[in-house]
Amino acid sequence: MSVNNVLKGMGYKFIAEMGEGSFSQVKLATPRKHHCNVAIKIVDRVKSPKDFVQKFLPRELVILRRVNHDHIVQMYELIEVAGKRLCIVMEAAAKDLLQKIHEVNRIPEDQSKNLFSQMVSAINYLHKMDIVHRDLKCENILLTAEEQVKITDFGFAHCVQDPSELSRTFCGSAAYTPPEVIMGMPYDPKKYDIWSLGVILYVMVTGSMPYDETNLRRLNRLQRKSLVYPDDAGVQEPSRVFIRPLLQYNSSTRPTIQQVAEHPWLQMGKSLKHKS
Ligand SMILES: Nc1ncnc2c1ncn2[C@@H]1O[C@H](COP(=O)(O)OP(=O)(O)O)[C@@H](O)[C@H]1O
Ligand SMILES: [Mg+2]
Repeated sequence: MSVNNVLKGMGYKFIAEMGEGSFSQVKLATPRKHHCNVAIKIVDRVKSPKDFVQKFLPRELVILRRVNHDHIVQMYELIEVAGKRLCIVMEAAAKDLLQKIHEVNRIPEDQSKNLFSQMVSAINYLHKMDIVHRDLKCENILLTAEEQVKITDFGFAHCVQDPSELSRTFCGSAAYTPPEVIMGMPYDPKKYDIWSLGVILYVMVTGSMPYDETNLRRLNRLQRKSLVYPDDAGVQEPSRVFIRPLLQYNSSTRPTIQQVAEHPWLQMGKSLKHKS
């Protein structure tokens, strides 16, 4: 039986394509049983690589079941189709952050601060539970129509057993990956997420990537140098001061997510919002 027929039988009607990942398709559907539209991520267990199906996908599902946070995408149900395909039914967002940046070129600093503070709150929640994401990038940050952040794609996420233990799995996208991972060294996965957050914020405020990732050796050389900002982006000094430690070459000098959350740059945005 096809995915369409099974889902139709369960009251879902596909209305649009939303995105495509490495081993999945994401579609927008109207459900009979929920109030609003849902997104359905369809994973083909047969066509996907073995380590993805046996290791990463089960981790993604365990984590999606455990998490409950305003800024993390909510999973509603899982549907198996003939043991071959898996449909992850979740709340639908309007777009991802990369699509938004393509539309607007770059996001004004106040708005970036607001969105970034939502991401920090979600990652702080995950790190407190010893869950690391390890694939934070603009495509995996969803935005609702009300500009609420929903972090998604827990395909490389992992629940760390011993928080002092280093990870060895090379995962993620080079452009958002810290130097220690590029170099194949055992790494602190929480500091990996901090680096990726730094890249995301840089992309939001400048509309461009901080490092060219076409060649890994060159990428590693660029990561060692101080950050360069495009002149026309007009990024303010306090924002640069905030971003710099997130992209520290040496992972032990990068702040923890709790320190990021408490940083005056993020707090400033909040107090202004309360006053207005
Ligand atoms: N819940 C959702 N709402 C709206 N768009 C989504 C949703 N989930 C995923 N997408 C879109 O589909 C893309 C691929 O989904 P993702 O879960 O990241 O798959 P993959 O693990 O294959 O990268 C995302 O980058 C995003 O553009
Ligand atoms: Mg993805």
